[in-house]
Amino acid sequence: MSEHNLFLNISLVWTLVAFLILLVSWRLANFGNRQRHRQLMIFLTLAAWIFIAVYLWQSQRPQPLVGIKEEYILWLVFHGVIGLIALLGATALVFARLWQEKHAESDLYLNRHHKVYGRVFISLWLFTHIGGVINYILFI
Ligand code: HEM
Repeated sequence: MSEHNLFLNISLVWTLVAFLILLVSWRLANFGNRQRHRQLMIFLTLAAWIFIAVYLWQSQRPQPLVGIKEEYILWLVFHGVIGLIALLGATALVFARLWQEKHAESDLYLNRHHKVYGRVFISLWLFTHIGGVINYILFI
């Protein structure tokens, strides 16, 4: 298997696994299982940053593993912007919650509105992973 295909296949597996974990984590939050929801969201947020770092690293190589096709540029910008909004938002939610665990007296805006923002960011994040499947089909 070429490096190009290997990279795309690994990305596809990750996007499907992360999609499922996101759904499970949302369900857990719904059922009030705060501890598991917390662990999964921290794991997913860290893993998503690692995924972006690997993606940027490969795009800087003299021979990128995935070359950008110009005809898909608008879609890729849209996909990337939505994904970054979701990830920056999730990172802010994680930090706000961790801050509150250390400083019980804190009353952060993001924590008071965690549910609303969480629903928005998880929805955007799920959409981003659907985009990951579309990218696989476009670039394989
Ligand atoms: C340290 C990290 C996190 C902790 C400790 C945590 C904790 C909680 C808790 C206790 C709830 C119950 C409702 C509430 O108190 O507001 C909740 C709900 C929720 N969280 Fe988180 N959360 C974390 C990270 C995240 C992140 C990063 C997202 C989204 C990107 C998220 C999305 C949601 C959603 C969507 C709900 C509402 C579930 C529903 O009723 O639809 N959470 N979270």
